[in-house]
Amino acid sequence: MTPLEKAHRIRELPPYLFAKIDQMKEEMKQKGADLIDLGIGDPDLPTFPHIIAALKEAAQDPRNHRYPSYSGMREFREAVATWYHKRFNVSLDPSTEVVSLIGSKEGIAHLPLAFINPHDIALVPDPGYPVYNTATLFAGGIPYFMPLRKENNFLPDFSIIPEAILRKAKLIFLNYPNNPTAAVASRSFFKEAVELAHRYHLVLCHDAAYTELYFDNVPPPSMLEIPGAKDSTIEFHSLSKTYNMTGWRIAFAVGNADIISSLGQVKTNIDSGVAQTIQVAGTTALCGDQTPVTEMRRIYQERRDLLVQGLKEAGFEVEAPHATFYLWVTTPSGFTSSEFTAHLLTKAAVVTTPGNGFGPSGEGYIRMTLTVDKERIAEAVERIKQMDFSH
Ligand code: MLT
Repeated sequence: MTPLEKAHRIRELPPYLFAKIDQMKEEMKQKGADLIDLGIGDPDLPTFPHIIAALKEAAQDPRNHRYPSYSGMREFREAVATWYHKRFNVSLDPSTEVVSLIGSKEGIAHLPLAFINPHDIALVPDPGYPVYNTATLFAGGIPYFMPLRKENNFLPDFSIIPEAILRKAKLIFLNYPNNPTAAVASRSFFKEAVELAHRYHLVLCHDAAYTELYFDNVPPPSMLEIPGAKDSTIEFHSLSKTYNMTGWRIAFAVGNADIISSLGQVKTNIDSGVAQTIQVAGTTALCGDQTPVTEMRRIYQERRDLLVQGLKEAGFEVEAPHATFYLWVTTPSGFTSSEFTAHLLTKAAVVTTPGNGFGPSGEGYIRMTLTVDKERIAEAVERIKQMDFSH
């Protein structure tokens, strides 16, 4: 039988980064390897008990068995606005400036459908979360990569983007604290970003999924703290990393009412909202006791210190991140990112992510996550120290 002809948009797409890594992991597991997984950013710590209790109770209520509202339950959107005000001192109207999402990946993937026409440009960080690029391509747009370089603290340099590109651009994606580089942006950088968005009429899409995973008691800012940001900004947050809820699929976007309603318009035609049980649990997460989040940060900080120190002892070039649960590690000389990831997997059974999987400027780095306990981190460091660094 002649193979079915698939659309260009998927024919030309490389396999999704983490799906490819899953496949490599599976092959190693089949061979009986004891894998230490520092690959995907998926918390190993469980969802906090009071959130699970709220889900259980919500599941008993038949009102929660029906279709949810498209934009999210009123209680959930109010909880988001209250949390935002407490955390960032930013006021939001829960009716027009908040929308619930089935994970921030879903919202980010759908946003370009609301703003990108074929051949329009979206400015995309490189390296960056792969979805910024593919969502732009799915909408028929053209991603323009903004390199994030170490010498610029992994912030894009707006001054080197050609004027013609800026004039054609409709959307800019930014993400701080940053995945995969773990960089944190200052308010003055955010101010520059907001000014750029205003000057070129860009939709400023800020992915803020990692704002709560910070260390040394220095909470990173929100883009919406910048005066005037709300004229052009949509900011994405997720409950995934803050409350260990990756599997629950709940997140939200906030900001400019027009951008929020445009995203909502796309979504009403595609999905039917977040299950109410999950929204009730999400409301409890946002409004309830936040001490488990503080404790979680302490755990990640200990792991960070252990892994950074171990890698340094093993001769690696790596800096302790101020936020996120990622380490952005320079690849040892003689290896490309992919070669070194494969080497770590086959020789030490340690799973990492190649930097170039996040874009061409990620070449020369690998990403490690802090999502295993201290014993396993120590074990990973031991295995790496024993490794032969020749091909
Ligand atoms: C990552 O490892 O980059 C993230 O976990 C992926 C995601 O949040 O979808």
